[in-house]
Amino acid sequence: AKKSSAGQCPTQETDTIFQRIRTQVQKSSSNTYIFFVFGASGDLAKKKIYPTLWWLYRDGLLPENIIFIGYARSALTVEKVFQNCEKYMKLQDSERDLYKKFISINSYVSGSYDNPKDFQRLHNEANKIAKEETANRLFYLALPPSVYGSVSELISSNCRPKEPAWLRLIVEKPFGKDLESSNNLSKHLSKHYKEEEIYRIDHYLGKEMVQNLVVLRFANRIFSRVWNRDSIAAIIIIFKEDIGTQGRGGYFDEFGIIRDVIQNHLMQILSIVAMEAPRSTKGEDIRDEKVKVLRRIQPIKMEDVTLGQYVGDKNSSNEEHRKGYLDDEGVPKDSKTPTFAQVVMHINNERWDGVPFILRGGKALNEKKAEVRIQFRDMPGSMFEVDGEKTARDELVIRVQPNEAIYLKMNNKRPGEMGFRVEETELDLTYNERYQGVKLPDAYERLILDVFMGHQINFVRSDELEEAWRIVTPVLSEIDDKNNKNVNVIPYPFGSSGLQEAFDICSKYDYTYS
Ligand code: NDP
Ligand code: BG6
Repeated sequence: AKKSSAGQCPTQETDTIFQRIRTQVQKSSSNTYIFFVFGASGDLAKKKIYPTLWWLYRDGLLPENIIFIGYARSALTVEKVFQNCEKYMKLQDSERDLYKKFISINSYVSGSYDNPKDFQRLHNEANKIAKEETANRLFYLALPPSVYGSVSELISSNCRPKEPAWLRLIVEKPFGKDLESSNNLSKHLSKHYKEEEIYRIDHYLGKEMVQNLVVLRFANRIFSRVWNRDSIAAIIIIFKEDIGTQGRGGYFDEFGIIRDVIQNHLMQILSIVAMEAPRSTKGEDIRDEKVKVLRRIQPIKMEDVTLGQYVGDKNSSNEEHRKGYLDDEGVPKDSKTPTFAQVVMHINNERWDGVPFILRGGKALNEKKAEVRIQFRDMPGSMFEVDGEKTARDELVIRVQPNEAIYLKMNNKRPGEMGFRVEETELDLTYNERYQGVKLPDAYERLILDVFMGHQINFVRSDELEEAWRIVTPVLSEIDDKNNKNVNVIPYPFGSSGLQEAFDICSKYDYTYS
């Protein structure tokens, strides 16, 4: 460790961290590896998967003997796939030669998602390109969930490498639409794969601050003592986006915001914030504790749900903001699908009884932000007031993005003044100030590396999934029922900060805005 240029704090040697990963990946890699991108023609492949593979390759983090094979129905070529991706690659001029080398180890095969012959052809082609039958194989399913079933089955029955090589299957969310379909998918996958071959990706688990939650909670006595109902009034976990569905309306309309971000990203964060201390930092120990706490959450009740759908703001100078959700391609004109939701969850255990966990997610709001706010109870028997009112509550904020930070809102004597005038201030650990020069890898970079290394800690286990669906499925069935009079989807203008009705529920649950 060395002093940062700010001279206050040790910074990590980024190169050392990457060197360590590189050594670990490459040590285990005397073999050849084949990384298959299913849905290579699609949105996720172009925006995230191919760019991530390029960055990992560029930084020397992948095994040396690796090849990539894209697969989809479209009649494409490698050149076309890379033309589609180019604008997301963040390519520097100095990297052009390496980039060409990367493209040269890519291939593309076109075929169906349901014909075994196409999968046999893919298998033979892969053996031919790799020049061996014992290359380890990673399959990334960047596909609509409707084809997960057939594709996973056909990969298992036609595309397995010869032993001792391994196969790992990376499955994108959404894992099902409700408890029943998710359980069916889990059963289907477990028929064809061992659990250690399945990597259900929730990219929020690859974010720096989400990973840091375990350290923050369990390496600091100052927090471990107060992390419970005696000291905490409410916990709120927020996801906000300042963009609409942007052409993904066809997909989104079938799912809605609860399935898109709350059931997965926000509930994953909740389970880490609320779990008991795991026996160790081993993946299975942490996942065991996450499941245990989920089991203590009652299904959400409709009265604890606030729903909204964005509409165009006709007065906005921003053209995108003038369009509402119903204007997006693929969205039925009478759609009631929520693009904003707030749900309140209650954990029935000794630590959390009576503490509301408020999960809020919304698209087309005023900013892009994800954070966890842990609000402490009022100071009992306080001697202080601010303008005749109680002093503000302490609040610990973990900002997941953008601009990662942990800060503690607290009361302080106003500096330089006589007497005890109290003002609210912050103990602030903003990462780009404190850890200058440290590169935080993108979530997909970390998670794809995890798959190479066989680490499942940051992936979702089937029992976690089952519990998360159990909690949200009853309200989802109500929301999906178009004739249900209890469901009120409130319009909000593109660019607003949220729904007043949602803020009112927070106040009802004793979360106060300072
Ligand atoms: P796309 O709609 O772009 O689909 C990917 C590919 O699948 C398409 O290029 C198409 O390839 C094929 N495809 C599309 N519709 C169908 C269909 N009805 N039946 C069979 N094949 C079809 O999806 P995304 O790339 O956006 O998403 C892929 C997965 O990743 C989804 O599960 C999504 O929920 C998840 N995801 C996506 C994110 C994103 O930002 N896009 C973010 C997080 C998760 P072809 O026709 O060439 O076969
Ligand atoms: C995805 C959702 O899982 O997460 C998208 O499907 C959302 O709707 C995205 O935009 C947000 O991810 P991030 O990393 O940009 O916060």
